[in-house]
Amino acid sequence: MTTWNERYAASLMNTFGPPKLVLARGEGAHVWDVDGREYVDLLGGIAVNALGHAHPRLVAAVDEQLRTLGHISNFFASVPQVTLAERLLAELGTDGRVFFTNSGAEANEAAFKLTRRTGRTRVVVAEGSFHGRTMGSLALTSKQAYREPFEPLPGDVVFVPYGDSAALEAAVDDSTAAVLVEPVQGEAGVVVPPASYLADAQRIAHDHGALLWLDEVQTGVGRTGTFYAHQNPELVSGTVVPDIVTLAKGLGGGIPVGACIATGGSGKLFDPGNHGTTFGGNPVAAAAALAVLDAIAEDKLLARVVELGERLRIGVAADPRVTEVRGTGLLIGLDLVEPKSADVVAAAQDAGFIVNATTPDRLRLAPPYVLTDADVDAFVAAWPAILDQAGVQRP
Ligand SMILES: Cc1ncc(COP(=O)(O)O)c(C=O)c1O
Repeated sequence: MTTWNERYAASLMNTFGPPKLVLARGEGAHVWDVDGREYVDLLGGIAVNALGHAHPRLVAAVDEQLRTLGHISNFFASVPQVTLAERLLAELGTDGRVFFTNSGAEANEAAFKLTRRTGRTRVVVAEGSFHGRTMGSLALTSKQAYREPFEPLPGDVVFVPYGDSAALEAAVDDSTAAVLVEPVQGEAGVVVPPASYLADAQRIAHDHGALLWLDEVQTGVGRTGTFYAHQNPELVSGTVVPDIVTLAKGLGGGIPVGACIATGGSGKLFDPGNHGTTFGGNPVAAAAALAVLDAIAEDKLLARVVELGERLRIGVAADPRVTEVRGTGLLIGLDLVEPKSADVVAAAQDAGFIVNATTPDRLRLAPPYVLTDADVDAFVAAWPAILDQAGVQRP
């Protein structure tokens, strides 16, 4: 009998390698595969499912919006679209303008084009960065293995070591259009820069008339315990007001929606005809995002993100085979004594937990904000046996 994996391999492009599971349904922070086996989802669709799976509020918002008005073109406006833009700006606490997209890469494409409207072309980016897979966002992504097969990429991108303010100072000059950084590097394995880094980046960019662009595709929408990570006093010292912020992932809680937000004057750099999208910010996507924002506010999920994050970090750090735990809130990176993260992912799956390997010795946890204490405790209890089964040796 042909399996789903065989049918997948025969019908889908092999961009992701063989799927680890064929999933059938989800509820809260739990998913079930086609054979009915249950897993605690500690990855949340890679930091996307902020409200977990099948959250009643999200389901109702999408259902109601689709029954009312599902899609219109951007020749027309919709109430959810405008309301969402206002809410995202209110969370930033500043005036600005929003361009909605369907993904993080598209939000970054929009922002990349926006930087060109300064009349300058150079973008200074951090090594270890991940900004997406389209040609523009790939040009801003540092990993050679992703870039090389597709070169030449759009140019005038300069890479500097992440978290190094002196390197930024040396690289940024009056020809720089923008400095682009992630407040925490997610794909690199949850790498946290010094607390002074973002404020330094802001000062350096502004000293040269350049824009500060923060990619909060992974860190935004509450993931670190504040709505935007650059507002998190645990991560950032001083006040940072980025000129551009890009969002996606958690924003729609699983419905594809992203945003390129530009504050102050940079919000007015695009003129009619400069950029566009058919689907970006459609009423259903915007209604989904509003449901996520409402749930975060009304169910006090940011406080839960902080509590759950602490519980998880303390729990996994208790095993001596974990050499470092990084991150705040529910964006957590773990380093192992040995490069066995792929084995740990497999062993965790066997034990009923979904986790993610970012590098051979690094794991990432980015679970839904609706994870329960019992879910965390179950994972922490299973953790030593998972490491045993993966063959990670005690130091
Ligand atoms: C920081 C960051 N930017 C951009 C992207 C790309 O987003 P998408 O996969 O939605 O295009 C990602 C995805 O992992 C990301 O983590």
